[in-house]
Amino acid sequence: MLKKPSFSLEPIETTSVAELRALQLKRLQSTLAHAYENSPVYRTKFDAARVKPSDVQTLADLAKLPFTTKADLRDAYPFGMFAVPREKIVRIHASSGTTGKPTVVGYTQNDIDMWASLVARSIRAAGAKPGDMVHVSYGYGLFTGGLGAHYGAEKLGLTVVPFGGGQTQRQVQLIIDFKPAVLMVTPSYMLAIADEMERQGIDPRQTSLRIGIFGAEPWTNEMRATIEQRLNIQAVDIYGLSEVMGPGVASECYETKDGPTIWEDHFYPEIIDPETGKVLPEGEFGELVFTSLTKEALPIIRYRTRDLTRLLPGTARTMRRMEKITGRSDDMMIVRGVNVFPSQIEELILKQEALSAHYQCILSKDGHLDALTVTVETKPGVAIHSEAARAAAALLAHDIKTYIGSSALIELRAEGGVERSMGKAKRVVDLRKK
Ligand code: DLL
Repeated sequence: MLKKPSFSLEPIETTSVAELRALQLKRLQSTLAHAYENSPVYRTKFDAARVKPSDVQTLADLAKLPFTTKADLRDAYPFGMFAVPREKIVRIHASSGTTGKPTVVGYTQNDIDMWASLVARSIRAAGAKPGDMVHVSYGYGLFTGGLGAHYGAEKLGLTVVPFGGGQTQRQVQLIIDFKPAVLMVTPSYMLAIADEMERQGIDPRQTSLRIGIFGAEPWTNEMRATIEQRLNIQAVDIYGLSEVMGPGVASECYETKDGPTIWEDHFYPEIIDPETGKVLPEGEFGELVFTSLTKEALPIIRYRTRDLTRLLPGTARTMRRMEKITGRSDDMMIVRGVNVFPSQIEELILKQEALSAHYQCILSKDGHLDALTVTVETKPGVAIHSEAARAAAALLAHDIKTYIGSSALIELRAEGGVERSMGKAKRVVDLRKK
């Protein structure tokens, strides 16, 4: 068979660090001026902090500026953060928070074009080839996943199947009939799709799929190995958030698969100490903060993502990478004083042959004390009362105690016993506040 030609990289992806930094500074300065002049919210924040855009003469000067948080967006609901007249906005997205009003974001035509080209860059970085077909199972609508993936794949000139989330049985049918090479979906829903394939008697390793582009929720390298093995595909990580843009703020390169490369020509990353707000030296672990460098409708300055990671030097590209996100500060469970992330539990579950990757962490009260229960499904064919299942549960409880330092009760469930998500999985159920 003839080898398919590859896409070529954009020059900026392999430019020198010095050139990249110069471009960032220029774009940062113009973003700050735009925000200050055109968004009353930013003007008020900057004035209160006694800083002016002209005070930023180097990239490090960014630290002089105040942070932006989700609360700022909520307070400005719906359109108060926009730095262009509403008539210039061609698209609105929103994310539903757990409390109250959604966070609303807007895009000009230039913003949409930039976003599409960064998702196109991400899909190419994942190893897609000209002529590939992309099946999109991220939800369409106000969530940025579906339309974000869609416009990027189209921009790259690929064939897009805009399926969206849900109807798992039909998803499988179309994957089998249309033969896409690329699937864009949350990693947890990928597993549900693989289960459905097996239920229909289809070997997930024998489909046309070559690449999975997974994001919108944390997933571990152990989950990557599980998915790659189960579906015989390359699994890469795509990261993003609606307040900053949507999917494609950062994305993994298939050559290295060593954490998402941040598309730094459009977004400037910082890592801060979440307690003090101090910028941490490169390589240290903390909260990821982003500043947009080219956005028009909603310039975002020092946005606190609540995502925890660290910055790493570039490998496949000049731009820096972020380590795979281990969790959001909001997801961190505190169990009898011990900090526990669902991703740590996931890592340990996947060490057990008899257990599947469908799990949930339930927090409750045992008298005055916190109790953590991990509900997890056994693999199909492994009965929950079998010797193998019981041994796996005992080992998992032991590993959680040893590696994380927390006692956990393991509750085994048969296949289908843990709630399936068709988008972002709900990994933590906290019953303590009820
Ligand atoms: O989840 C955008 C997206 C869609 C990204 C599709 C990738 C693929 P939000 O709904 O605003 O936007 O949620 C953003 O999801 O702050 C992270 O906590 C989490 N998240 C997104 N991508 C990843 C990832 C979309 N690759 C929030 N790894 C972010 C870990 C992720 N967490």
